[in-house]
Amino acid sequence: MSKLEVLGKDFIYDGKPERIISGAIHYFRVVPEYWKDRLLKMKACGFNTVETYVAWNIHEPKPGEFYFEGMGDICKFIQTAGEVGLHVIVRPGPYICAEWEFGGLPAWLMAEPGIKLRCYNKPFIDRVDAFYDVLLPKLKPLLCTNGGPIIAMQVENEYGSYGNDKKYLNHLKEGMIKRGIDVLLFTSDGPGDLMLEGGTLPGVLKTVNFGSEPEESFEKLSEYQKDKPFMCMEFWNGWFDHWGEKHHTRPAGDAADVFERMLKMGASVNFYMFHGGTNFGFMNGANYDGKLYPTVTSYDYDSPLNEAGDATEKYFAIRDIISKYEKIDESYIPEPSKKKAYGRVELTEQAGLFDSLDEISSPVKSAHTQPMEMLGQNYGFILYRTHVTGPKKGSQISIIDVHDRAQVFLGGKFMGVIERGNKEGLTVDIPDGETVLDILVENMGRINYGSELGEFKGVTEGVRLDYQFIFDWDIYTLPLDNIEKLKFTKAKAKTGPVFCKGMFNVDELADTFIELEGWNKGVVFINGFNLGRYWNEAGPQKTLYIPAPLLHKGENEIIVFELHEMEKPVVELIDKPMLG
Ligand code: GLA
Repeated sequence: MSKLEVLGKDFIYDGKPERIISGAIHYFRVVPEYWKDRLLKMKACGFNTVETYVAWNIHEPKPGEFYFEGMGDICKFIQTAGEVGLHVIVRPGPYICAEWEFGGLPAWLMAEPGIKLRCYNKPFIDRVDAFYDVLLPKLKPLLCTNGGPIIAMQVENEYGSYGNDKKYLNHLKEGMIKRGIDVLLFTSDGPGDLMLEGGTLPGVLKTVNFGSEPEESFEKLSEYQKDKPFMCMEFWNGWFDHWGEKHHTRPAGDAADVFERMLKMGASVNFYMFHGGTNFGFMNGANYDGKLYPTVTSYDYDSPLNEAGDATEKYFAIRDIISKYEKIDESYIPEPSKKKAYGRVELTEQAGLFDSLDEISSPVKSAHTQPMEMLGQNYGFILYRTHVTGPKKGSQISIIDVHDRAQVFLGGKFMGVIERGNKEGLTVDIPDGETVLDILVENMGRINYGSELGEFKGVTEGVRLDYQFIFDWDIYTLPLDNIEKLKFTKAKAKTGPVFCKGMFNVDELADTFIELEGWNKGVVFINGFNLGRYWNEAGPQKTLYIPAPLLHKGENEIIVFELHEMEKPVVELIDKPMLG
């Protein structure tokens, strides 16, 4: 029976000392057709292990409804890694952070009465246990102790950065063991006292996460764990972007230098990320510090393999370092994937959102506004509709609180945007008689880190007209998971919210990037697949990655849901990304 074990400062596998050189690839951020390609390139770079989180919210979209297919087929991902000759480290959460929606927690948890996250709270624990009852038996045959590639599993994720509930942490650990997980267990935390105190468990290997200063970080770890292997479970060799910020990059030489210093110290390393991939659909997370900072659609992360899976300068710099310490086959040259500029595509047909509500939603009548979680909705948009009476000049429409961004329409006319944190709202003139008031709210991705973890989306409390709460609403949930029901007609309006559709022909399949110059903010669908959000006004990302497996030979369909306006209903498919 093979097993990864700890002997003094070494990891031992199959009786021999082994240094773990690992990298993160999240199966849920890469189309399955490309898993093998990315894993082969990882192996060719000299790595011996791939690490992945498990995104609970992918696998349990509704309470008790499980999904393990397509991009959710974690077992296939792990098997493929094994076939390629890589070990696998699994980090099954339940919380994963990862710039992923709600740190991987399912949005519907918010609607569970009495729930408290990431602690020994019965409603939370019951849900975690029910998920582990399904997940862990799937992983069990893939453990190295059963002849599979999984060598180790993590308990929670940087728990010391959040809480101090050892009973909870211990319950997770025991829950893994009870369900047959008999591989090496570990925790990972930031290299600080509070974190290492709160996030660790006796008898469970402690690892640390950092991007620089490996000597100081491992010294801190030594204070809590003597004579055990040094392992950096997340070496942040790049970084992610928020909308409205600059694009982050980290020089290859700098990352390679920190990596080599770790190797010199005899440490094992997991690159976070080795290949970042994409936050397809509405699955990006967000950070919060008094203001919401949603993460962009690309999760390129400036990592050794870029978003399209191509080897970067960093890949080769890292490979050069590894080759000094381990034997690797350098004859393998990872080829970039085929790219194609399919050119301009005219979006000749349209369906206005307000004209399409009955096709893609059915309204819920409610005295008060309700957040989407209370209506069984996880992601996307939600529209609140009511009537107001005028004439009233200079009235104040305010939202308490909007999560995250509202567009306000009076009689179908756009009045302005109210963003999260805005207390004043908008000043409007309400015309004589009854007028329809529409408030379209975008959930821009749930916070995945810190004390604000666990928020409702949509209108969380209420909408006020001056000092009065407004009641009697029709609420339309708009997860946009059924846009095939839209009825399009030939049209060329330039203002949204509107779905715009166009077709383009593919003779040869290749990766491509959609550029939306002149468009403002919205979502793109390719052949019905939600590619993710664009937001040109904010940047830095200006293109969205379309992997070839989302295309087919012949006619392909693009639908762009634009919230504001576009210069012309035309997009362009180009052969290079523009990440800022
Ligand atoms: C932490 C988390 C990861 C990720 C990184 C930043 O270390 O554990 O999930 O969020 O930060 O990318």
